[in-house]
Amino acid sequence: MRLLAIGDINGESGREFVYNNLSRILSRYKIDFCVANAENSAEPNGITHNIANTLIQSGVDVITMGNHTYDNKESASVLEDNSRVIRPLNFPPEAEGMGYTICDLGNIRVAVINASGRINMTPVDCPFSAVERLLPKLEADVIVIDFHAEATSEKIAFANFLDGKVSAVFGTHTHVQTADERILPNGTGFICDLGMTGVEDSVLGVKKEIIIEHMRMPVKRVRFEKAQGEAWFHACIFDIDEKSHKTTTVERLRFNRL
Ligand SMILES: [Fe+2]
Ligand SMILES: [Fe+2]
Repeated sequence: MRLLAIGDINGESGREFVYNNLSRILSRYKIDFCVANAENSAEPNGITHNIANTLIQSGVDVITMGNHTYDNKESASVLEDNSRVIRPLNFPPEAEGMGYTICDLGNIRVAVINASGRINMTPVDCPFSAVERLLPKLEADVIVIDFHAEATSEKIAFANFLDGKVSAVFGTHTHVQTADERILPNGTGFICDLGMTGVEDSVLGVKKEIIIEHMRMPVKRVRFEKAQGEAWFHACIFDIDEKSHKTTTVERLRFNRL
């Protein structure tokens, strides 16, 4: 099974790139299953019904979120209405939505889990314990995890904690793609961060001038605006063996046109 995992889809430029190109990407790379992080897809962040539906129509099978999940007023109802849109498992139990979903592809059941880190992130429950408690209950063949976290140390520790227990762990949140894609000793495919699908000529997707001003004058409040312009596609492909459920190859993608 070939899994495509797409880094944080950011704003209009990132969304449009996915809407216009995903079907060709899926066929070019012979993808069977696609997971995309869309916590920044709406304005100012979060997700809307229209965006979720259009991403799914474009070929995304499961949408994951992160610390910006509820930044749009529609997000909570998107999570309640659509089991293919998930938020971190280790959010407070009262938070709307689910932390995992299972998709039946006919010959194979794929579970996608979303979890959040705790280092330099909004305080949440322990992601290690939350996933450890969930795994025995999951009726799935292949399990993959979007670990939405800031610190590379936490991501590497989390992936090694799950090595051999899940097929792949891919990081999101930093919007900067890391060049450490690999297969851990017990067969779990891993990358610290998939990156961002959005405008690279920006500061993590926000207009450069605004962030520079914010860094120079942090005592003043500023309104973040997403950058406009050419979008780049950041993602990773995991080839997962359907018998052993181990990852056999990991390929990192970063391009701005097909
Ligand atoms: Fe995030
Ligand atoms: Fe993000």
